[in-house]
Amino acid sequence: MIRLDHVTKRYPGGSVAVDDLTLEVGEGELCVLVGPSGCGKTTTMRMVNRLTDPSEGRISVGGTDIATVDPVELRRGIGYVIQQVGLFPHLTVAQNVATVPRLLGWNRARTASRTGELLELVGLDPGTFRDRYPDQLSGGQRQRVGVARALAADPPVLLMDEPFGAIDPVTRDRLQQEFLRLQAEVRKTVVFVTHDIDEAVRLGDRIAVFRQGGVLEQYATPADLLARPASAFVEDFVGTDRALKRLSVTAVDAADLEHPPTVDAATGLAEARRRMESDGVQTAVVVGSDGSLRGWIGRRHADGDGTVGERARRIAAWVEDDASLRAAFSEMLLHDAGWVAVLERTSNRYLGVLTPDGLHAALRRSIDAGQDHAGQDPAGQERPGEDRPGRERPGDGAVGAPGADGRDGATSRQAGVAPGAGPRAAGPPGR
Ligand SMILES: Nc1ncnc2c1ncn2[C@@H]1O[C@H](COP(=O)(O)OP(=O)(O)OP(=O)(O)O)[C@@H](O)[C@H]1O
Ligand SMILES: [Mg+2]
Repeated sequence: MIRLDHVTKRYPGGSVAVDDLTLEVGEGELCVLVGPSGCGKTTTMRMVNRLTDPSEGRISVGGTDIATVDPVELRRGIGYVIQQVGLFPHLTVAQNVATVPRLLGWNRARTASRTGELLELVGLDPGTFRDRYPDQLSGGQRQRVGVARALAADPPVLLMDEPFGAIDPVTRDRLQQEFLRLQAEVRKTVVFVTHDIDEAVRLGDRIAVFRQGGVLEQYATPADLLARPASAFVEDFVGTDRALKRLSVTAVDAADLEHPPTVDAATGLAEARRRMESDGVQTAVVVGSDGSLRGWIGRRHADGDGTVGERARRIAAWVEDDASLRAAFSEMLLHDAGWVAVLERTSNRYLGVLTPDGLHAALRRSIDAGQDHAGQDPAGQERPGEDRPGRERPGDGAVGAPGADGRDGATSRQAGVAPGAGPRAAGPPGR
């Protein structure tokens, strides 16, 4: 969709802002440019919408050489969030958002309806915010208006220059989440600049790391970048805790789940006791007839008559199956749980539980996958030792693929972990 071909930008006076840059961003992809201040990120962006022209090389958008396109025409198809937001202070929120539609000559009704729609999309109530001026907004709200303005004419391409810069970490986290949700919905081709490698890892489909002098050091997927930094500079830049950052980009995988015994909610308590006894476990996961998670039950709570469903205790720590390992990990920490239950998003079905061992195995595997390519050990410093924990050790770790021989041991061990550690409150999970 966007292609830069041996692009160099020299400013008058001879300073090189961008040096022989070749980079391609696929349609619907989010490409993040990161690097220290002054390394040419903004310049790269400004060349894509012809706010400045390259000294050498060629840039195409949607297959067309942009040197042949009228800059004003070109910018209609490219939303731009400039560094430090840059809302017009004398215009209201609604007027700011409507900047491009007005230029395009949309009528009043169409402009107003689009403005309302966009404010809602970025999480600002139009009734509350449309008539305010930028100085009546918080920093985070201003940034949302900036994003809404860039999206106004529904351009296929978005350039976002540190859109979530000067913002407190909590608001920033929320804006990033909202932006990911938004991007899943609208699927723009995005070039996104940030100083923050965490933000890059979280948002980017691909990340371009620049160093001073406008030199591209590496262009890779977040997982690749973390596992195999191409140079000492990149390694430094992504930081030494990259195995942890990897958690945010690695999804929970069914293969990493353990499967403690399950009992149907309709099962009688006597039967459940018998099952737990014969399986040699203290707890079981309780599921509904539709496969949904209803909680857990321990042998100590299973005395007397009645059904398992009546005694099931709530499992507070759970995630959906498209969650990242990081989300699962923080659930675990938040609820002080020994594991998190994993539910299928689409059906709400219970799939299994993720334990710290499973988490580690998943993380390790994703790092190892990167290493296989590299033929070296870039993640060396995070390796606790050559004895690889997790899936390969029967009975002492996460369950491997179905049928792996570690299963039984891991299962009973896992079930032993569960009771005190995690699920505590009574009743089925609140959903
Ligand atoms: N109009 C200009 N004239 C001369 N030099 C410029 C001009 N604009 C930028 N530069 C120089 O080009 C280099 C790259 O600037 P650019 O704005 O692209 O950096 P950046 O990576 O966006 O930095 P930051 O992270 O601080 O925003 C810098 O050294 C800057 O001083
Ligand atoms: Mg900049």
